[in-house]
Amino acid sequence: MSGLKVVILAAGQGTRMKSKVPKVLHKVLDKTMVDYVIDASVEAGAEDICVIVGHQSAMVKAMIGTRVKFALQKEQLGTGHAVMQAGDFISDGNILVLCGDTPLIRPETIKELSDMHNSGGSDVTVVSMKADDPTGYGRIVRENNAFAKIVEQKDADEEQKKINEVNTGVYIFKADALKAAFEKLSNNNSQGEYYLTDTLEIIKNNGGKVDIMAAEDADEFLGVNSKLQLSQATDIMKKRINEYHMLNGVTIMDPENTYIGIDVKIEPDTIIYPGCMLEGKTEIGTDCIIGPNCRIQSSIIHNGVTVQSSFLIQAEVDNYSTVGPFAYLRPNSKIGEHVRIGDFVEIKNSNIDDGTKVSHLTYVGDSDVGKCVNFGCGTVTVNYDGKNKFRCKIGNNVFIGCNSNLVAPVEIEDNAYTAAGSTITKNVPEGSLAIARSRQDNKEGWRNRSGK
Ligand code: UD1
Ligand code: CA
Repeated sequence: MSGLKVVILAAGQGTRMKSKVPKVLHKVLDKTMVDYVIDASVEAGAEDICVIVGHQSAMVKAMIGTRVKFALQKEQLGTGHAVMQAGDFISDGNILVLCGDTPLIRPETIKELSDMHNSGGSDVTVVSMKADDPTGYGRIVRENNAFAKIVEQKDADEEQKKINEVNTGVYIFKADALKAAFEKLSNNNSQGEYYLTDTLEIIKNNGGKVDIMAAEDADEFLGVNSKLQLSQATDIMKKRINEYHMLNGVTIMDPENTYIGIDVKIEPDTIIYPGCMLEGKTEIGTDCIIGPNCRIQSSIIHNGVTVQSSFLIQAEVDNYSTVGPFAYLRPNSKIGEHVRIGDFVEIKNSNIDDGTKVSHLTYVGDSDVGKCVNFGCGTVTVNYDGKNKFRCKIGNNVFIGCNSNLVAPVEIEDNAYTAAGSTITKNVPEGSLAIARSRQDNKEGWRNRSGK
């Protein structure tokens, strides 16, 4: 599909969402609706994409980023007016038009549409679907089975309202035919808007060829206008993604209660227990046990790893390590092989090397920890002095006694020990024991003397 240009409509407020956030920025699982539409276009081979922004355009542009072009629709005067704002972007060749509020569209369908349009020599091809409940959609009116026009819900008479073949809002136009149609487009309708849908009738009346691609799967074109439809779209996307992973060999114990983002990768023979959210560009290897109740964002988990009831964000966990229950791995935490991160442990911006155990109630931040280190319960790396952050360095085979504070910057060399309850402020040389607490003093017979 070389040379395909895509215009994505994303300027509307989405009044029916009843939200201060522009409609297309609402998320289905972990990704905004408009990002799904952009990604599907890219996957279908789109060469150039122009997103039409308007309502809260700065916010929409910032969320989308720099991978597309933008055109501004200052006033939202309708979908036809929106496409016109693309200006010179609509030059020659074909223009695919998609709506930013139809996140379920598949790249395969875009390719199929483009192929049909090209092989049929059409001036415009619109995708229609059969809707169980057509309310809200534009109705496709046919004459002698061929395309006649599209009538919007608010302009439809009682007979037209009964038509259940509706406009999905997905079209591909010959640029020349579209530009010619814009010259005749008016806003003479019940909403006083310039409807893109009217350009099809104009193209037909100009002697152009208008074709309809009847889509089989109506789910794919669900236009999200309300929070109710947002949850319906989420449900469909969730099922689609979970089915993909299950057919790929992943065990998902309770698909209803498992939320996996579309960009997540999971290898076969991993088991996902109920209540998990796997998000962003997370990758999970084979033979892992994830859950119950985990949230894992943009993290890399290698093979044979167990993660229970924990929150991981931008972390990496190497083979055969265990995490949780109730652990928190924060950005830039790199956990080696055969490591144990236990309950109520928080790790931030730290490297924990192979075989190390951080079993309970411990905070490790801004630290480089060697192999086979044992952290006693209640250890804290004191990495922040109120202004700056410093690193702790801990060698191999170190034993950190319970309730140690390691005040950074500080280094504990290989094979060293810290005594329980120590506050370590000076480097500890290799193989030594550091005791940094006051000695115990027993006052014998004290109780009787004090008369208690
Ligand atoms: C539109 C179609 C309808 C179709 C339905 C499919 C028109 C007139 N109607 O109706 O036939 O069945 O989609 O989902 O096209 N937008 C702008 N600028 C505007 C108006 C809208 O960018 O001035 C954007 C919105 O942000 C949205 C998209 O266009 O992403 C569709 O607009 P929306 O108001 O949701 O159209 P529908 O009423 O759903
Ligand atoms: Ca819509």
